[in-house]
Amino acid sequence: MRTQVAIIGSGPSGLLLGQLLQNAGISNVIIERRSPDYVLSRIRAGVLEEGTVSLLHEAGVGKRMDHEGVVHTGVQIAFGGMSRRIDLGKYAEGKTVMVYGQTELTRDLMAARTAAASLTLYDVTDAAIHQPLTDHPYLTFSVNGIKERLDCDYIAGCDGFRGISRDAIPANIRHEYEKIYPFGWLGLLADTPPVSHEIVYGAHERGFSLCSMRSMTRSRYYVEVPLDAKVEDWSDDRFWDELKKRLPEPYSAEIITGPSLEKSIAGLRSFVVEPMQYGRLFLVGDAAHIVPPTGAKGLNLAASDVNYLYRILLKVYREGRIDLLEKYSPLCLDRIWKAERFSWWMTSMLHRMSDNYFDHRMQQAELDYFTGSEEGLRAIARNYVGLPYQDVG
Ligand code: FAD
Ligand code: DHB
Repeated sequence: MRTQVAIIGSGPSGLLLGQLLQNAGISNVIIERRSPDYVLSRIRAGVLEEGTVSLLHEAGVGKRMDHEGVVHTGVQIAFGGMSRRIDLGKYAEGKTVMVYGQTELTRDLMAARTAAASLTLYDVTDAAIHQPLTDHPYLTFSVNGIKERLDCDYIAGCDGFRGISRDAIPANIRHEYEKIYPFGWLGLLADTPPVSHEIVYGAHERGFSLCSMRSMTRSRYYVEVPLDAKVEDWSDDRFWDELKKRLPEPYSAEIITGPSLEKSIAGLRSFVVEPMQYGRLFLVGDAAHIVPPTGAKGLNLAASDVNYLYRILLKVYREGRIDLLEKYSPLCLDRIWKAERFSWWMTSMLHRMSDNYFDHRMQQAELDYFTGSEEGLRAIARNYVGLPYQDVG
């Protein structure tokens, strides 16, 4: 088999890149180690920046999102028994965010790929990257026990944090930066109306909480739990009781509970690898970086990497601008480190980081300062809606 761009992984990064390239007439094949149903069963992110939304429109997959997604012009931060609003429109030059689940976005991208008759090979095993430093890189893998070879011009490693692409960069060139947090998020999805029409991030002595949604009839809630917490120990009743204890009035009194559709625990991690390019191999999305979910940057960073790689490849194929290939990594990393900073800062400010009462008072003062001053509100709002993309040149 031969294609122009070989893509490893059919998460949001791989699918979005594939769709943009396909529309531009650049052939691509995606290989994915899981089944389509498995990929769609993962409940993950929910908040899209305007840059991500525009890119989805550009890829021609914005129709259902426009119809079913909910535009948010503000978010709430609850602490010290009250809630303060970050007016995104006012403090981020009219920008907003869109609440639309990663599962739905993935479903739309998969449907568009099927309609365009682009090839995705699911359930592949033993994927390996060969000769990324030459002009003739290729992948090998097995499907249904049959060994295949895919020759290509470029390889996009969109295979998430536990994929194979990152390790294809030799250890003496690769620099990894990591921070693991001593807690996780227990998430619950329920067919109940959300407690507020806006997302509420809550800081409390008992720990962090988050009230989000997928629609006006489906809620997504999270509570901070210790790293060794087990989902089996968290009945729905225990979850709802804990959430209520962490929220101020009126949310705690007004929350509508119901049976969970899904419940899972995710650990929190900050991670960045440098560089994100090795010859003709490019790392995209979670393959190259992880942020703790506070601030909703994971999926949006994946989209901004796709934006840069797509625009560079377009100029490479249309204008012969191979000089741009080496700009991919620095362009992405500039934005990634700023989003890493914001996610780390929001995590530190909103979670129970220590038992030290001084640290607790520092958090309170920080929350009060940032949600109570024009400059603080502006700093949160501008980062929350997403920093601008740069021109690739
Ligand atoms: P992924 O979505 O991980 O996709 C990678 C794909 O590659 C997968 O389908 C995988 O099966 C495939 N793959 C891996 N290895 C191979 C291989 N060897 N061969 C072929 N295919 C392979 N972000 C937020 O903003 N908010 C959230 O609330 C949030 N919650 C999250 C909860 C969890 C449990 C996790 C894991 C992530 C969460 N994220 C969240 C982050 C967000 O979901 C990711 O940033 C986003 O999915 C990144 O997309 P991606 O396509 O780069 O990687
Ligand atoms: C959601 C997840 C986040 O990480 C976040 O910051 C806001 C909302 C969500 O799943 O809806």
